[in-house]
Amino acid sequence: MTDGLYIQLFSIHGLIRGEAPELGRDADTGGQTKYVIELARSLGDHPAVRQVDLVTRLIQDRTVSDIYASPMEHLSKNVRIIRIQCGGRKYIRKELLWPHLDEFVDKTIKLLKAQGRIPDIFHGHYADGGYVAMELAAAFDAPFVFTGHSLGRNKKAKLLATKQRVKDINKRYKMDVRIKVEEKIIKKAAHIITSTRQEIDKQYGLYTNSGKQFSVIPPGIDLDTFHPYYHSQLDPAKEDEVAKQTKITLLKELHRFWTDPQKPFILALCRPDQRKNITGLIEAYGTDQDLRAMANLAIFAGIRKNIMVMEDNERGVLTDMLLKMDFYDLYGKLAIPKKHDFATEVPELYRLCAESGGVFVNPALVEPFGLTLIEASSCGLPIIATNDGGPVDIVANCENGILVDVQDHFLIAASLKELLTTPDRWQTCSRNGINGVREHYSWESHCEQTVNIFKRLLPSSALNKDFEKKLPKKMPFGKRLTTLNKLLITDIDNTLVGNADRLSELLQLLDKNRSHIGWGVATGRSLEMTMDIMTEQNIPIPDILICSVGTEIYYGPDLRTDKGWQQHLKHQWKPEQIKETMAKLDFLHPQEAEGQRRYKISYLIEDEPELLAQVYHNLQKEKLRCEVIFSHGQFLDILPYRASKGRAIRYIRYKWNIDHENIMVAGDSGNDEDMLRGRTCGLVVSNHSSELEHLKGARRIFFSKHDHAGGIIDGLTHYKLL
Ligand code: GLC
Ligand code: MG
Repeated sequence: MTDGLYIQLFSIHGLIRGEAPELGRDADTGGQTKYVIELARSLGDHPAVRQVDLVTRLIQDRTVSDIYASPMEHLSKNVRIIRIQCGGRKYIRKELLWPHLDEFVDKTIKLLKAQGRIPDIFHGHYADGGYVAMELAAAFDAPFVFTGHSLGRNKKAKLLATKQRVKDINKRYKMDVRIKVEEKIIKKAAHIITSTRQEIDKQYGLYTNSGKQFSVIPPGIDLDTFHPYYHSQLDPAKEDEVAKQTKITLLKELHRFWTDPQKPFILALCRPDQRKNITGLIEAYGTDQDLRAMANLAIFAGIRKNIMVMEDNERGVLTDMLLKMDFYDLYGKLAIPKKHDFATEVPELYRLCAESGGVFVNPALVEPFGLTLIEASSCGLPIIATNDGGPVDIVANCENGILVDVQDHFLIAASLKELLTTPDRWQTCSRNGINGVREHYSWESHCEQTVNIFKRLLPSSALNKDFEKKLPKKMPFGKRLTTLNKLLITDIDNTLVGNADRLSELLQLLDKNRSHIGWGVATGRSLEMTMDIMTEQNIPIPDILICSVGTEIYYGPDLRTDKGWQQHLKHQWKPEQIKETMAKLDFLHPQEAEGQRRYKISYLIEDEPELLAQVYHNLQKEKLRCEVIFSHGQFLDILPYRASKGRAIRYIRYKWNIDHENIMVAGDSGNDEDMLRGRTCGLVVSNHSSELEHLKGARRIFFSKHDHAGGIIDGLTHYKLL
């Protein structure tokens, strides 16, 4: 904090890149993409900010540009895009990403550990980014800020209104998952940032959010791109050739449609969507003779090649537009260009319209924010829009136009005439727009407000780094594990416990060396039974608890579940089918409820090789892929094929980035064999069972002459880990 804030922004879905962002390419690459890139860039310019990462999904797919496969892209000297791979490498729509977000969390942790610096703030965008930021913030005990961009509940209501069935909505949009995650995010977020007041009332209002801290901070726009129309008039020499060329192209295109091109023109710019109410505007214009006489109309309704092969909604809107044009006989008056280039043509288009003395109209029935209104105003165009949602905030801030009930086309026509025929009114709205946007909708003012919120959220400990050193035991597990580079993992029964004197000696040693060595247990016991024996033996909660034969991983001191591991184990796990198949074997006796876990099905079985063979045979016959572990001559555990104590350790080693030669694994029985055989340093206590004899002489397995915890101490010295 003393050297400036480190902020991580998470925007997982879509295609994100710094150069020429592909806005509008698909449903996942639109407004939010632009928002987060601009936010990242301008946060980086703030004097209180040291570093900004925009973290997104890495995509390696021939259907998209190679840049999305690059793990890092610099946007400026202290702002970078970091790409993390999850859920394969193909570009998939955001609704399909839910099962892969824990993988994203894990890999981000790994990266943080490798770079050795942890962000002060995790800021999630949209529900998927919100989830990842929430999980990381919990791991590192840092504040978590959320910006929804849109929420599921009202999207669901809209879809229901179009007569889609709940079942289909959930299937296609995974709406139930999204809403559940949003509920949790909203509950956990330290602060929520919205673009408008209406979002809080109408969107977050549909969620449980009592006492939540909200701030309305509208996004900024690029003021250089959307500069006022009079710049080129005042200093024509300064206008660059590209701008002039763009203008000429636009004028040529418009003049194809108009017979009187010298008149002012009314401009509308939107996607061809029913709710944008383009026909309402054509009716307003078409039915008013005065209006038709005083101005032309230009409607840019998306990019189109062939209307006949478009999707129903779009085709319907465009067909309607053409029919209305014909009906009102607007030939020579209405321009409906087929294509335009968003990034370069749109600002010039606003300026051409302003130069003509024209007006910008957004006839949409609902407009949650209204970015085009702000951009048009910034260029000096007076605006007309619906008196609902985002436009209400914009006109209240800038006094730059007229709000009307856009369902009433007489009102649209009347306000257009008012602005077109009263030069004073036009001039005031134009100037107010230019000045108001600079005051209220610049990224600079957005970041100023945002950074103030971030600073308020930081715990006092972050402001004073020494404070943390004084309270090491309270450190959140994420921070602790990223600072460690050595680890002891030990079995509990007959290894850690069994010799009380040596145990207390070991615990003292671990505590004394806790600044560089962490420790954990790996056991067949459930979490509850693990806690029972630890309480009974007066053992403090370790950094890591691998329970239920490696199927569950928890982190101390809060016993937080490792969800990434759970997600990883899910693959091909069919517990119901396994139970059914095993039920046919009458020599198997299910263990008590404690032994049965989400990813572990356990039985008691007699120690007869033929019986075990029968178990394997039946599982194979049913093609049930799983891991079978037999131990202590009586326990039979069936686990997901990706699980075992050894595999859990490998996962931890990978996630927390600890070298295998710096991890010691201790055990006493056949149950520990798979973890002892890993690439880590193995230790077998002198009181081991005979099953382990055959490991004598194996590489990296040390047989101690001491028993229980005494053997562990011996091993730590042997491997020079203390
Ligand atoms: C513990 C568990 C039991 C398991 C056995 C072997 O005793 O409680 O469910 O079968 O370890 O892993
Ligand atoms: Mg044991």
